[in-house]
Amino acid sequence: MSLKVNIGNLEFKNPVFVASGTFGFGKEYSQYVDLNKLGAIMVKGLTLNPKEGNPPPRIYETPSGILNSVGLQNPGVDGFLRDELPFLKKFDTKVIVNIAGETIEEFVTMAQKLDIDGVHALELNVSCPNVKEGGMAFGVNPNSIYEITKRVKGVTNKIVIVKLTPNVADIKIYAKAAEDGGADAVSLINTITGMAVDINSRKPIFKNIFAGLSGPAVKPIALKYVYEAKKAVSIPVIGMGGISSAEDAIEFMIVGATAVAIGTYNFINPTCTMDILEDIKKYMNKNNVSDINQIINSINV
Ligand code: DOR
Repeated sequence: MSLKVNIGNLEFKNPVFVASGTFGFGKEYSQYVDLNKLGAIMVKGLTLNPKEGNPPPRIYETPSGILNSVGLQNPGVDGFLRDELPFLKKFDTKVIVNIAGETIEEFVTMAQKLDIDGVHALELNVSCPNVKEGGMAFGVNPNSIYEITKRVKGVTNKIVIVKLTPNVADIKIYAKAAEDGGADAVSLINTITGMAVDINSRKPIFKNIFAGLSGPAVKPIALKYVYEAKKAVSIPVIGMGGISSAEDAIEFMIVGATAVAIGTYNFINPTCTMDILEDIKKYMNKNNVSDINQIINSINV
């Protein structure tokens, strides 16, 4: 049975990744998860300089998912290279570094700094809903997506993945802009903007008013966006959004995802990725699927 998938010139041992921002830099989770078994680790989004993130509260749980307003708290790209990458390099998995420039130039500078051994791919975060500079403002503008992708591709030999926001009406335009800019893949969805209110003070829970929703509530929406994006581009799509089981992961692959990333559910069950991987194998056995690629983009419509 083969679970190998390819994105650009990179081969992944399986299609089960962990989504950026939900797995830190892997250290804490390495107590629970054999990182060698993951297809890839998409690390927490980095900015050029260290960032403190937004004032609390940053997380608010709802019955159907989690709202976050983290605001890209991170140690900066140099802090990552110094304190986190050496640990990640010990494992036999692929490291995908999520970068969130506040300007196009910052994306370029970060890509240059990360064009080193141990980094396998870059995920351009043009979709964070919680920051004032860059973030989703780039991702709702096809020209910015195109420009950022093209400029980054010009300075790196790494695989470039563009992480898209679902906070747009027609995802096809944005996926196509990434492909036209030279992206090797697109990943989606980032979180959906939402809000919560404290009924006693009548104030919004979050200082920024809006925050990003993830978890089970977003899964059917994410599935639709992945399906639509796949129809618009010929590059691979990495699917994410509310995945909590092998069945969810397989749904994403059937609608076109070459790989899937598990996000919020890591908080609920830290070992879920290992279970999902095993259950995908069981599904393949039961359905006489010898190669995972037979499932990818196999939807019957
Ligand atoms: O929902 C999100 N939260 N998406 C991102 O891309 C970044 C993160 C944050 O740090 O706010």
